[in-house]
Amino acid sequence: MHPQLFFQIARHSGTAASIIGTTRLNARTSLSPRAHPIHLVIAALTLLACNVLAASEPIRPGELWLDNRAQHVQAHGGGIIKERDTYFWFGEDRSKDNDRSKRHVACYSSTDLVHWTFRNQVLRLADPENFGPRWLLERPKVFYNKMTKKFVMYMHIDGPANAGDAGNAYVLARVGVATCDTVDGDYTYIRSFRPLGKESRDIGQFIDDDGSAYLIFECRPTKGFYIAKLSADYLDVEKEVSFIRSPLEGGALVHHDGLYYVIGSLMTGWKANPNQYATALKLEGPWSEFKDIAPPETNTYGSQSTLMLQVVGSKQTTVIFMGDIWKPYSQWDSRYLWMPLEIGGGKLRLPEPREWSLDVYTGEALIAR
Ligand code: DGJ
Repeated sequence: MHPQLFFQIARHSGTAASIIGTTRLNARTSLSPRAHPIHLVIAALTLLACNVLAASEPIRPGELWLDNRAQHVQAHGGGIIKERDTYFWFGEDRSKDNDRSKRHVACYSSTDLVHWTFRNQVLRLADPENFGPRWLLERPKVFYNKMTKKFVMYMHIDGPANAGDAGNAYVLARVGVATCDTVDGDYTYIRSFRPLGKESRDIGQFIDDDGSAYLIFECRPTKGFYIAKLSADYLDVEKEVSFIRSPLEGGALVHHDGLYYVIGSLMTGWKANPNQYATALKLEGPWSEFKDIAPPETNTYGSQSTLMLQVVGSKQTTVIFMGDIWKPYSQWDSRYLWMPLEIGGGKLRLPEPREWSLDVYTGEALIAR
């Protein structure tokens, strides 16, 4: 058993004692009559540890996250949607052995947000519009449209101004759209465009309590980021809802306890920086001043925001900060930093990363001591 987990168990000493008591009684009946009580206690603790581990394997920020194939999860810059009891995680698939002429998006599923099953490389896209060999696909996000019954994927599409250019590969500044009839099928690329006619780089997704779907996109010329409503079929970006004048990317948004909280990162390429948050009563704003989500010297503990995921359970609601720990020279090995946020009353804080466990049914999160 991991020592930190033992502390968690110890902190629940009331429950632990009663479980140990029960196990001890059972153990007495099945063990040799000469067994010393200390052995029984050890046996009971081992059983207890196994039960606890089976029930709630921890989430380990920054470590390798292995899927059902024992391969590191490739869902960088990703987003998550929930369909019935299942979470689907989409993100950039940067696997080392990918066909380098294509760009890839992978999809994984989980019912506990801990164990992830690889479902499909839902997008294996060859240059769709003659963008040139250096074209980019980043930060895919999938929405489900109830009216059309289609899953609609948005992605940041970029590349140099002219296909053959050797310079900046972040000039096109567009979004791409792809659709599929099933959540984890092969998505069909539809087109790319500039949302609301504006430059768009990092994108984020937000689904409000009434089911309305929004795209968040960063726009450099206007020095801020937009929250924009999608059209009824989700195939277009229809209406600016809010423009937040702060040069931030990696936009993530959540509606929690009557307040909207938005997080963004400064623009330092792949290098981590102090991510910040602001709040508003209405999506339209006005938005508060931005404040750091973690001590600034930690640079968000080496991560960059991609999504805030709300887990509404029977006992409480947990909002998870989902961040990427980028490794620009070995992207396939980039890691994930997920932690339950301390959030409420207009304040938001990312705790120092540690192992933690989550019960998706009760919504309870427990951080190891
Ligand atoms: C920061 C963005 O958030 C990433 O998605 C990626 O575009 C890097 N910049 C590239 O430098």
